[in-house]
Amino acid sequence: MSTAAPTKRLYIKTYGCQMNVYDSERMADVLAPLGYGMTDDPTHADLVVLNTCHIREKATEKVYSELGRIREMKDARRAAGHAMTIAVAGCVAQAEGEEIMRRQPAVDLVVGPQAYHQLPELIARSHRARGERLAADFAPEAKFDALAAERNPTGVTAFLTVQEGCDKFCTFCVVPYTRGGEWSRPAADIEAEARSLAEKGVREVTLLGQNVNAYNGANDEGEGLAGLARRLARIPGIDRIRYTTSHPRDMDDALIAAHGEVEALMPYLHLPVQSGSDRILKAMNRAHTAESYVRLIEKIRLARPDIALSGDFIVGFPGERDADFEATLQLIREVNYASAFTFKYSRRPGTPASAMPGQIAEDVKDERLARLNALLDEQARAFNQSQVGKTLPVLFERAGRYPGQLIGRSPYLQAVHATAPDHLIGQIVPVRIESAARMSLSGALTQALEPA
Ligand code: 5AD
Ligand code: SF4
Repeated sequence: MSTAAPTKRLYIKTYGCQMNVYDSERMADVLAPLGYGMTDDPTHADLVVLNTCHIREKATEKVYSELGRIREMKDARRAAGHAMTIAVAGCVAQAEGEEIMRRQPAVDLVVGPQAYHQLPELIARSHRARGERLAADFAPEAKFDALAAERNPTGVTAFLTVQEGCDKFCTFCVVPYTRGGEWSRPAADIEAEARSLAEKGVREVTLLGQNVNAYNGANDEGEGLAGLARRLARIPGIDRIRYTTSHPRDMDDALIAAHGEVEALMPYLHLPVQSGSDRILKAMNRAHTAESYVRLIEKIRLARPDIALSGDFIVGFPGERDADFEATLQLIREVNYASAFTFKYSRRPGTPASAMPGQIAEDVKDERLARLNALLDEQARAFNQSQVGKTLPVLFERAGRYPGQLIGRSPYLQAVHATAPDHLIGQIVPVRIESAARMSLSGALTQALEPA
């Protein structure tokens, strides 16, 4: 099932009942995509798992004495320049918990029964703790690099990296394995960069991070991304602040409140939900439900009623049934998105979902994607249409395709075309919206409101 050839050796010792034998097989399955192939020889293993049982009295002591032997193998391997990760799973792990690591410090991780599916995550975390990246041979996730590279040549808008990495371990995603843990730049460094951008004419910064709203960099102006936004909003010239990408789990009250209070924070939020089915969300390890996401959106709209919402959606995740897909459409109808990014599930080597049963046929994915896109397109058009007749502040960024035309952005990130003189590039100007298409708006300057 795995697409990766084994590059690492896994030794599993199973104690006790048939349940444990079954669990050991599942552990081997979830570890296969990470490049682990089985070995019978623990002395050459990169990863040793003791899948324990404490049905009999002496079982726990037996595990500790076995761990003593394995520690010697680990020491021997280290002396030869190789690492060995030791994991304790099963009932003894459940009963003793962290105590195991206190009694035998060579143990790297402890995983209870029913938690074997967390092994890839736990192993990645333990490798990170040693400063190693797991499976550097994965194809790098190009999306984020592309985003950062897409800097606007005119210098009116700029991307500013504030956070990297991800601790969320969505089961479809390679980022937590390839990019390492969540890390935030100190706020003072970010502020210095934003000031220098502003001096060069930048009016809008988009704060970037794989989990940007998990931002927790050192900042004496207040916690988290909300505090950072407040700090950057005070910089002369920085009139607009955006951020991407966010996780629902990190959308805290302070950030929601900031959307109602910080004028520079633009009313646009990219908050991926991935699916509207709780069963699928659980299999994705998203740590939210459809209901909790919808409640969160309600709270955000209470703080900022006009906020435009965007999301990421995946169709055809393993095990997705028609009813799950319908639940996604239902959530979309409930939330009403201004824009969206849609994906067919793709098996990424090394991710837990790549080894899950119930992989979905390509034609089913295609059909679901088409229906998903049709609904989201309809919502995007309706959102754009709802701006017609309104006057929006537009930050002009560059010359348009036709002579005398400029292109800018509305607060809601819509592209806006208008006939306007070049000197308005870099300025925020009221534009009366006259027409809307799926991807953009067209309008005219409201001269009366904007004296020369
Ligand atoms: N298959 C399909 N979509 C994926 N994404 C990430 N990994 C996968 C995958 N294996 C999508 C998610 C994420 C966005 C950046 O890319 O929707 O939010
Ligand atoms: Fe992290 Fe986003 Fe990937 Fe989930 S989809 S693991 S939150 S980068």
